[in-house]
Amino acid sequence: MGREFASAAARWLHLVNSNARPEIIGICDTNEELMSWFTSNLASVSQTTTDFKELLSNPEIDAIYCAVPHVLHADLYPQILAAGKHLLGEKPFGMDASQNAIIEKSIAVHPDLLVRCSSEMPFYPGAQKVIEFVQSGACGDILEVESAFLHSSDINPDKVINWKRMVDVNGEYGCMGDLGMHVCHVPLRLGWRPESVYASLVNRVTVRPDSSGENVPCETWDNATVIGNVVNETGNFPLVLKTWRIAPGESNTWSIRVLGMKGSAYFTTKYPRQWQFMEYQAGGKQTWQSEDLGYQSVFPAITGGIFEFGFTDAIQQMWAAFIDELSGGANGFSCATPTEARDHHSIMSAALASGKTGQTQKVEYLS
Ligand SMILES: NC(=O)c1ccc[n+]([C@@H]2O[C@H](COP(=O)([O-])OP(=O)(O)OC[C@H]3O[C@@H](n4cnc5c(N)ncnc54)[C@H](O)[C@@H]3O)[C@@H](O)[C@H]2O)c1
Repeated sequence: MGREFASAAARWLHLVNSNARPEIIGICDTNEELMSWFTSNLASVSQTTTDFKELLSNPEIDAIYCAVPHVLHADLYPQILAAGKHLLGEKPFGMDASQNAIIEKSIAVHPDLLVRCSSEMPFYPGAQKVIEFVQSGACGDILEVESAFLHSSDINPDKVINWKRMVDVNGEYGCMGDLGMHVCHVPLRLGWRPESVYASLVNRVTVRPDSSGENVPCETWDNATVIGNVVNETGNFPLVLKTWRIAPGESNTWSIRVLGMKGSAYFTTKYPRQWQFMEYQAGGKQTWQSEDLGYQSVFPAITGGIFEFGFTDAIQQMWAAFIDELSGGANGFSCATPTEARDHHSIMSAALASGKTGQTQKVEYLS
């Protein structure tokens, strides 16, 4: 993910009228072998280190992007803030709710610093259309919302285990820690906080080879299907959150579908150029429409409107949102906030408890 940001920053000329530009001057990774990719591609890099504290003491660095295994978030993020650096931290913002609380505490004592959580998928034009459609009130009473992130590489039982499959590094959430923020960002931004959740958790591949080929236990949840109950002024509706690491045939599919009495809308990254919507009036036809959106970004770019938008654009748009906010702008959709990250922990903690007990769980929000 560090390289993704570096690539987005290196082609900042892609954006039009950006009020600031990030310059990457320091790189840290405990794996020294990764450094040469950065130093040979980015002339601006003047510091490389295997000790992140050296980055923190560099007065030239204003902001840090931190993408490390989940168990390290609660250790590194507070130290980054204590050093006076703005932070775009990777999700899930602490590997569980108690580690998230440590991060929250440090954010509270540094109100002057911008802190945001990574979540790039809502920057797709089709996702933005769904959000605008809902915010315009076009849905009427909502019947159901489904927000999903589907991967399939773990369907291969021979795939070598990595830290995301280890409870002590990834956290007990399993796939919900890895993908949960991705599916909660838009629902939370739209004000849909489930009061309670019921979760079906699946651990289908329980043993995987390690790098030496020896089979070791694989204890994390592969797939989670969480059904939340959202109560609003006109009643309630189910919010279905799917975070699947074994979804046959899906490489990296993020989708959001909102079904309502007057209007419904759907976007999936599988068809990145389009969104679908239906508008309905009593007794009228029920006709879904597809619209080709092409390239319509939150932050204007040089790409012509007829062309496609993709993952690397979403990453750059997320970065543009962070840089825009950092430089005093407030142009449109902002990155996921620490409050949204905290609420997603409340939801995922309740889902984990539900999956283990088989009971519906009340979600305990901290505010
Ligand atoms: N936004 C997204 O779409 C997205 C996608 C993948 C991963 N992520 C998130 O990014 C984070 C990292 O995941 P990844 O897939 O890039 O993992 P990764 O294992 O590929 O990379 C993590 C890097 O951190 C380095 N590292 C470990 N300990 C360190 C330390 N103490 N100091 C400095 N570097 C250290 C490792 O050497 C490694 O290069 C996670 O929080 C993950 O959830 C986000």
